[in-house]
Amino acid sequence: MAGAEDKKKPVTRPRPGHADLAGAIKYNLHDARYILERASARETAARVALGAIAKAFLIEFGVNIASHVIAVGGVRLERSAGWDEVAALRDKREILLGCVDPETERRMKEAVDQAYRTGDTVGGVFEVMAHGVPAGLGSHTTWDARLDGRLAQAVVSIQAVKGVEVGFAEENAASFGSRVQDTIHYDREARRFTRGANRAGGLEGGITNGEDLLVRGFLKPISTLRRPLESVDLATREPALAAYERSDVCVAPAAGVIGEAMVALVLARAFLEKFGGDSLGETRRNFEGYLNQVRNY
Ligand SMILES: Cc1cc2nc3c(=O)[nH]c(=O)nc-3n(C[C@H](O)[C@H](O)[C@H](O)COP(=O)(O)O)c2cc1C
Repeated sequence: MAGAEDKKKPVTRPRPGHADLAGAIKYNLHDARYILERASARETAARVALGAIAKAFLIEFGVNIASHVIAVGGVRLERSAGWDEVAALRDKREILLGCVDPETERRMKEAVDQAYRTGDTVGGVFEVMAHGVPAGLGSHTTWDARLDGRLAQAVVSIQAVKGVEVGFAEENAASFGSRVQDTIHYDREARRFTRGANRAGGLEGGITNGEDLLVRGFLKPISTLRRPLESVDLATREPALAAYERSDVCVAPAAGVIGEAMVALVLARAFLEKFGGDSLGETRRNFEGYLNQVRNY
């Protein structure tokens, strides 16, 4: 963490990939300090705090949210993870990188160590899961009611997240429809519809379908490098190496926690839109009425 004195130092050599140059031009500033302090992901402490309230609300209705890291640099978890193992990560005393597979995590750590040793940074991918989500949140009726779109906006708003995937989007795009769609079945005993798989990530038509919600955030490697890239000094307009401030090497685990908060905030809002209510009791009554309707569908 930069000390108070460091934070007074003007930043005139903008870092490629950070908000420095775009923000300085926009606000007509010649010191990017004001931009970078405001653009910093430290702002997300507030999102995580609000997300904790949204999570507490959702738990009242049996909805739980957790995240895990599925890639760091080129090292990727080569299988899908189930809710139980992702949720169990929260109970571990020490979390290293938040990957469910110890061997993959060991290789992820090597990738981070290598980036650290060479003054570089690495990106990654986190997955947020929401378990116990009822079918019927969001709507197919208008573009801005579709829950996949709303989740994508919320997750891509996290600093350094440059892509969002719902379900197995990337793999699905490279496959055939016959292998991708989650087949529909009916369990007569339980009187409910079931699915052959959950490649759609719990969303169809912008509506939750009752399966686990799977949303992934793709992080670029962060832009502050100990071996700085080429830039230009804002004062002299001469070529200069970009400024360096104390910086992280890989933010995937922390970004996953922010992702949980963003998913919780979007889901809580969708929940209130559907069930309304001015008290928990009223929301619960409406929710239970709806569950009854679904049971008798
Ligand atoms: C948890 C977290 C920590 C971050 N820490 C740093 C950091 O130490 N140094 C850095 O240059 N960027 C860091 N970033 C990314 C920048 O905040 C981000 O790249 C910058 O605001 C520009 O926004 P953009 O990458 O979304 O375009 C972090 C992002 C997250 C999610």
